[in-house]
Amino acid sequence: MIIKPKFRGFICTTAHPEGCAQQVRNQIDYVKSQPAINGPKKVLVIGASTGYGLASRITAAFGAGADTIGVFFERPSSGNRTATAGWYNTAAFEEAAREAGLFAKSINGDAFSNEIKQQTIEMIKREWGKVDLVVYSLAAPKRVHPETGEVFSSVLKPIGQTFSNKTVDFHTEEVSHISIEPATEEEIRHTIAVMGGEDWKMWIDALQEADVLNEGAKTVAYSYIGPVVTHPVYREGTVGRAKNHLEATAHELDKQLKKIGGEAYVSVNKALVTQSSSAIPVVPLYISLLYKVMKEKGLHEGCIEQMYRLFNERLYTGGEVQVDEEGRIRIDDWEMREDVQAEVSARWSKVDSDNLKELSDIEGYRRDFFQLFGFETDGVDYEADTEANVTIQSLA
Ligand code: NAI
Repeated sequence: MIIKPKFRGFICTTAHPEGCAQQVRNQIDYVKSQPAINGPKKVLVIGASTGYGLASRITAAFGAGADTIGVFFERPSSGNRTATAGWYNTAAFEEAAREAGLFAKSINGDAFSNEIKQQTIEMIKREWGKVDLVVYSLAAPKRVHPETGEVFSSVLKPIGQTFSNKTVDFHTEEVSHISIEPATEEEIRHTIAVMGGEDWKMWIDALQEADVLNEGAKTVAYSYIGPVVTHPVYREGTVGRAKNHLEATAHELDKQLKKIGGEAYVSVNKALVTQSSSAIPVVPLYISLLYKVMKEKGLHEGCIEQMYRLFNERLYTGGEVQVDEEGRIRIDDWEMREDVQAEVSARWSKVDSDNLKELSDIEGYRRDFFQLFGFETDGVDYEADTEANVTIQSLA
């Protein structure tokens, strides 16, 4: 079929298999063009199909020569409906890994459930014995608690007071004001349950109990801080509370892993266009301004550049892992540089619908968003008849 982008709200409901495969190959090529990483050899990535998790998997495999198991929640194609982008990404990743002689298997299902944890542990025991690194990169709107069955939904809201600021609709390129009502206590509790550290700890507990973590094993989860302008809706809002919980969990897990000489970290990453971040109000406008400023300064990075730097310059340097005063890894260092933030902030106060194109990289934002779903990618013929039914080999 001929596959075109189709939108429902800020989500694209179609994905292009060839475009997704090309995006994955581009990421692999980037990692292969960089010096090899003396890193982990058996890597479990939870949330491995898109965004930072996919880039982590690619970096581990093609940077450090690691065998990988990826866990994610994606949908295959059915009838005239395409699969999700993460499905196509994984099919392409597995194919490239196998060609390179690397083990790559995937588990598609709800990572919050006990069943998927057990399935993963069985696969590790059967195929590897033990794991060297566990990357936790889930971003989900909902979680069913595995013990109580309670269904939690995360929300993106400020806490304590209404937040009003500028936002952009990148489809229409219109800058407008939005107001977001504060979250209730219940919504805060729910968001912490979905995006906080409880499930990460459940994974590490289960892996440790099953004795499948190698001596010196590491685990890392991802967080975000960002500029003052987004603090009310992000870092000081509901998701920020969840990130505080995630960061506190890292300290707990670090102590727990000391028994096997292991370590747990949170890495604070750069703001980037992913399926998750595009759903946050205000943030897309910030990202558009940030992209423009960082590109002008030659500092721009995507998920793959960030993850390569995380592995090569932080987690696997051979020496101590460099952290901030709160024990967090910072690869948002370039985003948070004083000159970058000062410039973004000056532009923030001026930006409106008329000067959006000049002050921000709204075009780069839009293109990155389409590329998440395999569209607008160089080297792909979008008029060609394309097979939407693609198999992930390890799931076949
Ligand atoms: P993403 O939406 O690209 O990826 C989410 C992954 O989680 C996908 O692989 C998806 O299949 C998987 N997933 C979702 N629900 C699942 C479930 N129930 N069971 C199994 N897998 C499930 O998101 P992104 O942006 O890469 O986020 C990953 C982490 O990075 C999050 O913790 C996020 O807060 C953090 N982060 C993101 C930043 C950004 O700007 N995008 C910046 C800094 C941190």
